[in-house]
Amino acid sequence: MNISDRAKAMPASPIRKLLPYAIEARKRGIEIYSLNIGQPDIETPQSFWNAVHSYPAKVLAYGNSQGIPEYREWLVKYYRANNININSDEIIVTTGGSEAVMFAMLTVTDPGDNIIVFEPFYTNYNGYAVMTDIDLIPITTEPEQGYHLPPKDVIESKINERTKAIFICSPNNPTGTVLTKREIETIAEIAEKHNLFVISDEVYREFVYEGEHTSILHFPELLQRGIMVDSISKRFSSCGARIGAVITKNKAVMDSAVRMGQARLCPPTIEQYAAQSVLMQLSDDYFEKMVAEYKQRRDITYEELMKIPGLICKKPAGAFYIMAKLPIDNVEKFAKYLLTDFSIDGKTVMVAPGPGFYATDGLGHSEIRIAYVLESEKMRKAIKILAKAIEVYNGKQQT
Ligand SMILES: Cc1ncc(COP(=O)(O)O)c(C=O)c1O
Repeated sequence: MNISDRAKAMPASPIRKLLPYAIEARKRGIEIYSLNIGQPDIETPQSFWNAVHSYPAKVLAYGNSQGIPEYREWLVKYYRANNININSDEIIVTTGGSEAVMFAMLTVTDPGDNIIVFEPFYTNYNGYAVMTDIDLIPITTEPEQGYHLPPKDVIESKINERTKAIFICSPNNPTGTVLTKREIETIAEIAEKHNLFVISDEVYREFVYEGEHTSILHFPELLQRGIMVDSISKRFSSCGARIGAVITKNKAVMDSAVRMGQARLCPPTIEQYAAQSVLMQLSDDYFEKMVAEYKQRRDITYEELMKIPGLICKKPAGAFYIMAKLPIDNVEKFAKYLLTDFSIDGKTVMVAPGPGFYATDGLGHSEIRIAYVLESEKMRKAIKILAKAIEVYNGKQQT
């Protein structure tokens, strides 16, 4: 018996594949600053926990396939506060943003179709493309341009007869880039000309330190072509809740997503109830405080990184990641070395190697992604350890 070609092609998550080395390092008593994964350390709001502890039902039943109606009504209010006018029928609650991306891909493509993406991109898009049997057509963005989109003709030159959508993510994981209104207008023009959908991953909407976030649903011309993907994982520091959403005004897309939703029955019930509670009790300064905290972490991380000789990176405007190009040829080896061979005073760092964020072979071999998800002083210490590790590693390579 053989497993499927699809199963064989399924990539391991580059964010998680170093985990066995981290487990071994911890067994040796090494403390690891985990900068490899976007797992915030900010406490999940108390209103979430209160709702979990006081969940009123005696039976944990299946919920509505499209999501609990009251929760969707609260989402409508949340989006309205973000100048996104939708109604509750235009939302399907999903099992995390991950399922939302899958639903979005599945509703607009058939096997063998393709979607344009800008690399580096959130590495799991590669896995979703394998699972949905589609191709990702990568268009490379450059650190020197702050990972902003290339000119219109470059994007258009990649579109072919099997292209069904353009995928954008802003604020971006892994680059932290926030797309401008003009860039999204350009995407809208291309989509209209070539009759494409636009899928927009907006899970980091609030995490903006410079400029402002623009949603695809702010553009009248994208209301029918636009499919927005969202999640509470980062926004409410609740990655384990597994609550996301697809939002679209395109009825055919929503109807098919709902049928997919019916096939998997429902998203988590208690967690929707808890997410609703968070929205109901959200204080006016919740996002302000959160953004101020992450901005400080970003500033310290960037400040420390800029002290490293030969390192190239742009100060990111949003999300909580920095892509940095290191003076190292093979970051996969280096990231492993950090866990297997290096420590200072019993401490080391774990980072995500760059190649997994690219679809084009050969790119990202000198880049790493750092998630600044630890408090500022820990970030400072972690980057100092990274700096020393680069120095020692490069010294060893030469001997
Ligand atoms: C850009 C982006 N989209 C989607 C997801 C998936 O989020 P979720 O935890 O809601 O599945 C992540 C998670 O890190 C992400 O960074």
